[in-house]
Amino acid sequence: MGSIKVVELFAGVGGFRIGLQRASDRFSVVWSNQWEPGTKRQPASEIYAARFGHQGHSNADIATVHAKEIPKHDLLVGGFPCQDYSVARTLKQAEGLAGKKGVLWWEIHRILKAHTPGHVLLENVDRLLKSPSTQRGRDFAVMLASLADLGYVVEWRVINAADYGMPQRRRRVFILGHHKSTAIGKQMLKLKNAETWLLEDGIFADAFRATAKSTLCTFELKGDLADITQRFNHDKRSAKSPFLSTGLLVSRTVHTMDVKPSYAGTFTTLGEILLPSKDVPKTFFVPATKVRGWKYLKGGKKELRTNASNGFSYKYSEGAMAFPDPLDKPSRTIVTGEGGSGPSRFKHVVRTPEGKLRRLTPVELERLNMFPDDHTAGASDARRAFFMGNALVTGIVERIGSVLQARLK
Ligand SMILES: C[S@@+](CC[C@H](N)C(=O)[O-])C[C@H]1O[C@@H](n2cnc3c(N)ncnc32)[C@H](O)[C@@H]1O
Repeated sequence: MGSIKVVELFAGVGGFRIGLQRASDRFSVVWSNQWEPGTKRQPASEIYAARFGHQGHSNADIATVHAKEIPKHDLLVGGFPCQDYSVARTLKQAEGLAGKKGVLWWEIHRILKAHTPGHVLLENVDRLLKSPSTQRGRDFAVMLASLADLGYVVEWRVINAADYGMPQRRRRVFILGHHKSTAIGKQMLKLKNAETWLLEDGIFADAFRATAKSTLCTFELKGDLADITQRFNHDKRSAKSPFLSTGLLVSRTVHTMDVKPSYAGTFTTLGEILLPSKDVPKTFFVPATKVRGWKYLKGGKKELRTNASNGFSYKYSEGAMAFPDPLDKPSRTIVTGEGGSGPSRFKHVVRTPEGKLRRLTPVELERLNMFPDDHTAGASDARRAFFMGNALVTGIVERIGSVLQARLK
């Protein structure tokens, strides 16, 4: 068993686990949790347990899991939903933290507080850095301040997998915290030059080379979490978020800047991951009678529409999407509604060498996230597409994991 004990929260079908296992056999997942709200059937958890075993896997709402049920660990990982992290003074809980019920960030926070693992690696949509629209960046500010108060120094980076040779354009923010008691945490507490960490010495800088696109901004996160909720970026409605594409939090000081990827390797295209047409079941081909419907949805339009509930007419316009999807570039982002045969603006459609149009198969969607072929086999095609829409590009976790484990030696 590896020496770096990992807990995987919001595990889905195990993207973090796959990436970490590929990075090093020093990582060993000792406990995982996956529960789909609002449904009795739990196919993601079933796939997870079928691939990695039932031992140490929990299929319960994380809010109902007592911290004592979770074993000791060195690294907590998870891709959690982007929700409202605001904190109201009146909602104070027994421990003094005022996280709203049902907000999953506070579940992560609760487990970090109880276990204080040395490191934490989280993934989210990049919108997290900017939300909510009325107080740009407030939620990330609350999250960072709450991590600082637990004794973590934090680095983050927005990464688009395709910029680093991976097959899908998927922009996500990765957030890596190191407790101040760890060697990396101590090193970061003594940092003299934040920019050098962000561009050269940091873990993201090492895993994903980048160069400066803006100057460094430095500011303090002042006040308790309720103060931050009330005041952060409050006077400047619709002002920009101060959190740029990479950054560092040391105590309550934020250093942040925009960076651009610096990558000299090869790129992977959508065409390269496709199955030969003979291996694609008939149901994935778009019947000739349906092509018009697809073209309409994918096309640019300017039209008058009527709101069904209030009868008001409004002008609707949207630009054209590439149809079919280009095969000589990395793919667009996979969304959860990718499955099913009905025409849609966002599902991928490719033209086969024989000139036919077809949707992507579950195996192709797995390849776009760099999962093993047939990792999700056993669930329905639509469900498999849903899993991949929720998952991450495992190659990113692999690279972060490689650098992290080398630094932990
Ligand atoms: C963004 S996905 C993460 C996917 C994962 N990284 C992967 O590679 O498949 C978030 C996951 O959290 C799960 N989830 C949502 N609410 C939950 C809760 N209260 N307790 C446990 N899991 C939950 C969802 O079912 C979903 O699978």
